[in-house]
Amino acid sequence: MSTHIGAKPGEIAETVLLPGDPLRAKWIAETFLDDAVQYSDVRNMFGYTGTYNGERVSVQGTGMGMPSCAIYVHELLEEYGAKTLVRIGSCGALTKEVDIHELIIAVSASTDSAINKSVFGDTSYAPTADFALTRHIADTADKMGLHYHAGAIVSGDAFYRPMEGHLDVLADHGALGVEMESAVLFRLAAKFKARAACILSVSDHLITGEDLSSEERQTGFTNMAKLALESVKT
Ligand code: HPA
Repeated sequence: MSTHIGAKPGEIAETVLLPGDPLRAKWIAETFLDDAVQYSDVRNMFGYTGTYNGERVSVQGTGMGMPSCAIYVHELLEEYGAKTLVRIGSCGALTKEVDIHELIIAVSASTDSAINKSVFGDTSYAPTADFALTRHIADTADKMGLHYHAGAIVSGDAFYRPMEGHLDVLADHGALGVEMESAVLFRLAAKFKARAACILSVSDHLITGEDLSSEERQTGFTNMAKLALESVKT
């Protein structure tokens, strides 16, 4: 067991899906995986391993925000040898070109967080999704007939942003959506020579003010989970 994950060595697959919400991890395991076994309930941040079409897959909750996500991702990479990590989460849309309900496949994640800055000194590091994995996810979405936008996102430290207009300049530079985890996921995967990607479903719109009901959120989440699972099978 690592500090925050209660799994024994070998209990976690090399491929791990990463929802923020641990109950979503439970739901994916119960809905899509065969022979799912719960390997961790430490802090109720549930993790499961099972198979999807015969492939071993784990699903681990990460909590909200980069500090929480970084703890789980670091331990998955360093202690359990994870090789392919796919975040599946929700985001707020930053541009009119992206509609509520739609999927975003992240290519890069800018951040206002110090969690990466402290590592690179004066250099402004560009957290980037793994190209081959991301391309494969996009190809899989095409095959599944799922519409998506692919591009830059923002990983913010604060859900309730104290500064009005803070995200406008990022949207002005092409950012499609805002969430709170991917910038550190992409950095840690790069550091540990693993692959990471991120699929988001738009749950709220920062321009139109629209917001999804929990039923509608579930539809977006189901599409993302299916896309992630179909994309990681070899
Ligand atoms: N900000 C940050 N994370 C989010 C948002 C948001 O507006 N919506 C869903 N996840």
